Order: sequence, then structure tokens, then C-alpha cells
Amino acid sequence: MPNRRPLTSLGTITAISIRKGETIMVGRLQGRSAVITGASRGLGKAAADLLASEGCAVALIDLKAHWAQAAADEITAAGGRAIGLGCDVSDRDAFKGAVDEAVQAFGRLDVLVNNAMWNLYEAVPDIKPETVDRMVSVGFSGVIWGIQAAAEHMKAGGGGSIVNIASVSALLGMPNGLVYCGVKAGVTGITRAAAAELGPHKIRVNAVAPSTVDTEGVRRVVSAERIQDRILQTPLGRLGSTEDIAKAVRYLACDDSDFVTGQLLTVDGGLANSLS
Ligand SMILES: NC(=O)c1ccc[n+]([C@@H]2O[C@H](COP(=O)([O-])OP(=O)(O)OC[C@H]3O[C@@H](n4cnc5c(N)ncnc54)[C@H](O)[C@@H]3O)[C@@H](O)[C@H]2O)c1
Repeated sequence: MPNRRPLTSLGTITAISIRKGETIMVGRLQGRSAVITGASRGLGKAAADLLASEGCAVALIDLKAHWAQAAADEITAAGGRAIGLGCDVSDRDAFKGAVDEAVQAFGRLDVLVNNAMWNLYEAVPDIKPETVDRMVSVGFSGVIWGIQAAAEHMKAGGGGSIVNIASVSALLGMPNGLVYCGVKAGVTGITRAAAAELGPHKIRVNAVAPSTVDTEGVRRVVSAERIQDRILQTPLGRLGSTEDIAKAVRYLACDDSDFVTGQLLTVDGGLANSLS
């Protein structure tokens, strides 16, 4: 039975169902639930906002519970259903605990968005073991732990959709990006293997490859000059927005993509396919 909560600032409604003379607004993910990691800001928060606007109950995970809860409160204030949970996705048991808590709160799990990442660009001579350990444990192992925790609930529930946030850096070499490019290429491998193994359980696994999006995370590691270069290199002549990426996540999360699995959806304004 779809929720009949009032629509406030929340966005798109994609279907209208008329039942016994009442008009009920139904979103593309009405009645479903999602876990989104690294969701207190940036791409993760935009994905949580958009999924919530489609009627999905969302559990936002971030390193600190109060960051995640503040972002969840914004969604709740806009009419959505959201909780915030604190955990480090590189900690397998903690991540499983957070996913279990989300399932307890919402009664089911339909979507996982593996978005959290910690990043540092270093030239080859400067790469430090602790940089590699942190990036691999968050961006690579964290994706595996998320799939492991979510798949258990999705199998029990008859299926689901997992969306991993990769990067065009999985496809393109980048100076000072050896660890990042390697981790993101690894995410595409995980995506294909998980799709092959989990398909028989009706669990789809796909990845999104954004190019540069202006977020706090990017401003921390990419200079304004380099961002300008990126715009010039992009055929569509702009950076992606957090909403551009969220729309790709929504497509892969909902039934519009119900025969799509093991794919890398590049959302980059044409960057990865062009010479400049
Ligand atoms: N912004 C871009 O240009 C861009 C481009 C390509 C891919 N991506 C990918 O998109 C994702 C989001 O990027 P963003 O720019 O929004 O990043 P961001 O740094 O702005 O946000 C990342 C979030 O993840 C959280 N986080 C970090 N480590 C965590 C951990 N161990 N456990 C739980 N949460 C953790 C952070 O606290 C933060 O809230 C990342 O996977 C990134 O690699 C971003």
C-alpha cells in the first residue's frame, strides 16, 4: 500500500494510481528502502534526496552518526522517510550492523548505494602505505562489505539493486591518481563479478562513473585551475552536478533498469570518449 504522505518540496512523481476514487501519488521507489553510504554530503546526499523523493525510505550512513542524522533530518523535513547511521564502511562488522539496523527500521532492503570514499592524490614517489591502506579499505573493501551485508537481506526479500559509485578514473589514466584509478577500476571488476554471482537471486549490481562534480570532496583535492581544464575537456562544456549523478543512481535503483546488470554507466558529459 503506497504511503499517502503530503508532497512538500520533494520532487518527481512518476505514476498516479486511482483507487476507490482517491488519487494516490506513487513514486518510482514507493514502499522500498535503500542504504546509501557517505550520504551526509555530496553525491551520496543528492542520491538520498532523489531516492526519497521517489517514495523510498532511506538510511544514510556516514562516518559520524550526527552528520548522517543531520542529512536525514533534512529529508524528513521535506516529507521523506530517513534515518542517519554512523559507521566506517571499511569495518565489515560495523557496516553489517548498520545495514541490519536499516532493515530493522524499514522492514526490508531493496537498494544499496556504495558511495563512500576517502581520496588523496599523490605522485608515484610520494605514495604512502597509509594512503593506499585507507583508500583501498574504504573504496574497495568497503564496497565488498556492503555487497556482502546487503545481499543477505536482498536474497531473503527476493531481489534488489546495488549501485556502486566508480569514476571515469576507472577508464582513464590520471597523473597523481594511481591509487584512485586502481581502486575505481577495482570497483568495476567487483560490480561485474557480483552481478554474475547474484543475478540468479534477482539482485542487480551496476556502477556509475561520474567525471568531476563540484563537491566538498573534490574541492579538497582538485585545484580550481584543474577544474577549469576539466570543463574545457568536456564536450558538453560543464561539470556534472550532484543531481546528474543522482539521476543515474535512480535509474539503476528502480525498475526502469530491471534487465540491466553488471554495467558501468558513464555520466561525464562525453569526457571519457573524446580527445581534446
Ligand atoms: N565528486 C566527483 O567529482 C566524483 C567524481 C567521480 C567519482 N566520485 C565518487 O563519488 C563518491 C562521492 O564523492 P563526493 O565528491 O560526494 O565525496 P565527498 O568527499 O564530498 O563525500 C564523501 C562522503 O563519504 C564519507 N566517508 C568517507 N569515508 C567514509 C567511511 N570510511 N565510511 C563511511 N563514510 C565515509 C565522508 O564523510 C563524506 O560524507 C566517491 O566514491 C567518489 O570517489 C566523485
